[in-house]
Amino acid sequence: MIRKRMACGLGVLLGAGLAAGPAGALEGDAARGKEAAATCVACHQADGSGRNAPGGESWPRLAGLSAEYLAKQLRDFRQGRRQNATMEPFANMLDDRQVADVAAYYSQLPATEGGGGDVGEPLRARGEQLARRGDWDAYIVSCQSCHGPRNQGASGTFPGIAGQHAAYIRNQLQAWKDGERDNDPQDLMGAIARRMSDEDIRAVAAWLAGQPPADE
Ligand code: HEC
Ligand code: HEC
Repeated sequence: MIRKRMACGLGVLLGAGLAAGPAGALEGDAARGKEAAATCVACHQADGSGRNAPGGESWPRLAGLSAEYLAKQLRDFRQGRRQNATMEPFANMLDDRQVADVAAYYSQLPATEGGGGDVGEPLRARGEQLARRGDWDAYIVSCQSCHGPRNQGASGTFPGIAGQHAAYIRNQLQAWKDGERDNDPQDLMGAIARRMSDEDIRAVAAWLAGQPPADE
């Protein structure tokens, strides 16, 4: 079975295991989610825009990310599959119903712009290359081959990363590279991050942060 899947290539591999949500996932209610999100605004802000904090702790933008992706992250924090000392207590406060509700709430907020995208060449050019075309010499697949056209997200599995804060993107890539984040299905992100230099990480994070998070 495993060999057969591998032989079929990336597309089938992704389609097979990842498309379906967890069995029995609850349908969220955005209005209830807004109430449950009362404690979240201290960091993620009332509009879900978060904060870019180079050198500090960046709070990701949640507005406009897919509900399925958001709910998975909250479950992963609760179950210790994704670790972050700041975020974990807030995920632990939510029951299954509230996870679905806050995910529904943030997913329908209009996506806001990312911070940290205003960088010069040649960082910009390298970032764009990695994000849109990849670098076959370094075995790095383009980000958009999974994260969707314009890196604005594809299905519930691949989150939008265009317009996410540069410092947050950088932290996540670094965490994958160092083996500190490993809640991605089938090590898809770990495998890529480990092939990226620190310079590559800075470049792609900055370029993505400057891109529109959603089409007008
Ligand atoms: C004290 C600040 C703080 C509060 C309050 C907070 N968060 Fe977070 N949140 C963070 C930080 C920091 C991260 C990034 C963690 C990391 O780097 O892995 C995060 C990450 C997340 C993520 C993952 C986003 C992604 O793109 O993968 C979700 C979802 C999330 N928070 C939802 C919530 C919800 C819902 C609440 C309220 C119930 C909440 N947060 C309250 C700081 C906070
Ligand atoms: C083979 C598919 C694949 C490719 C190619 C890929 N990603 Fe990902 N990426 C994923 C998956 C799947 C997730 C969600 C992981 C999870 O569920 O926690 C993800 C998540 C992320 C996140 C976390 C977003 C958040 O909100 O926390 C960042 C940042 C990211 N990817 C950046 C990149 C960058 C930059 C590239 C290109 C250099 C890239 N990815 C290429 C599959 C991919």
